[in-house]
Amino acid sequence: MRVLVVGGGGREHALCWAISASPLCDALYCAPGNAGIAQDAECVPIAADDIETLVCFATENAIDFVVVGPEAALVLGLVDRLAEVGIKAFGPSADAAVLEGSKGFMKDLCAKYNIPTAAYGRFTDAAAAKAYIEDQGAPIVVKADGLAAGKGVTVAQSVDEALAAVDAAMTDSAFGAAGQELVIEECMTGEELSFFALVDGKTALPLVGAQDHKAVGDGDTGPNTGGMGAYSPAPALTEALQAEIMERIITPTVEGMAAEGTPFSGVLYAGLMLTQEGPKLLEYNVRFGDPECQVLMLRLRSDILPALVASCDGMLETFNLRWSDDVALTVVMAANGYPGDYAKGSEIRGLDTISLEDAIVFHAGTVLEGGSLRANGGRVLNITASGATIAEAQAKAYAAVDHIDWPDGFYRHDIGWRAVARGA
Ligand code: AMP
Ligand code: GLY
Repeated sequence: MRVLVVGGGGREHALCWAISASPLCDALYCAPGNAGIAQDAECVPIAADDIETLVCFATENAIDFVVVGPEAALVLGLVDRLAEVGIKAFGPSADAAVLEGSKGFMKDLCAKYNIPTAAYGRFTDAAAAKAYIEDQGAPIVVKADGLAAGKGVTVAQSVDEALAAVDAAMTDSAFGAAGQELVIEECMTGEELSFFALVDGKTALPLVGAQDHKAVGDGDTGPNTGGMGAYSPAPALTEALQAEIMERIITPTVEGMAAEGTPFSGVLYAGLMLTQEGPKLLEYNVRFGDPECQVLMLRLRSDILPALVASCDGMLETFNLRWSDDVALTVVMAANGYPGDYAKGSEIRGLDTISLEDAIVFHAGTVLEGGSLRANGGRVLNITASGATIAEAQAKAYAAVDHIDWPDGFYRHDIGWRAVARGA
């Protein structure tokens, strides 16, 4: 099978690493890829959201199967365009990707199919949004409806902060068109959990849980990022809780999407809040989490490629995946300044001193220039290790981090702290 992976981050490196190990994979391409991905796949310089060029490349190179990493290409309809030219792809159609592309759509689906989530209102008018906030009081959460690269959410502790978030989105267009409609919702409290399921339109196959660290600084301080580290399994995810999430959240979503005439296939990534009243949906993503995918791929013991194909073919019902009991943990190394402005191009040394038995380094934003490895993004490297316990995985990952000589980068020192504190 000739496979094309779309994307160029740590998630796509982990996917390429797993897919390249499949005996079913005869050739592997990645667009645009990065310096690390180039060790597992042939990189082609096409942007992940350049739909027409991707479709041309897939046709001309007799690609059998496309795996789409990032949400933008899905929302823009890459899977639909590939289907038109007879190429199978893993991921939802544009109509089903609206689950991530419009928070208002997701909330309305929850309301219609009785899926637990925060109480909400949808607004296209700033005055009405503000009146709702004044009426509800703080804390309250203001969200841009559309894709805002993870930046469109304000958890406001005061009414003034929430009103300012409405102005930023609607009047100052801080998120462009994505913020012209808002979802304003009840602020929930509890522990957060990422839950993943492979879906084939009608059947959902639960994967394993993972926990992300969104804040940039140690002790969960500072601004939110795309994720500074992750680990799996998530100790909070008991078998009983998984059953409850499947029954009350995932299954009604899959059935609801099918009933609406927009069946969902691909990976459904539920951001959940474990509240006093049980698990509630924060948001849906229609792709693997990054960096959660990296720890999932490290624990996966089955061949991933047939599972992705089965999701596309509607054949998940009889499918089973095997997972290692080990804990996997990844530490993100990012460029100084991230998630704000940061410089590209600084040199990274020392990767060759890390033994593969100790850790795997997935690249998130790197480029090779004249034989030297250089930073080429905000999140740059994902140092990923496994161990019998979270403490062992953590110690191995950080020991590998110490081998990396990159003065222009930083990382959190406490990835996995919540699980270590629980003694998992
Ligand atoms: P989202 O992109 O919708 O997951 O939101 C980003 C982050 O904002 C989440 O991971 C939560 O930490 C926080 N958040 C979103 N919605 C809520 C809510 N209703 N209550 C409390 N925190 C929230
Ligand atoms: N790690 C969070 C995300 O992928 O959205």
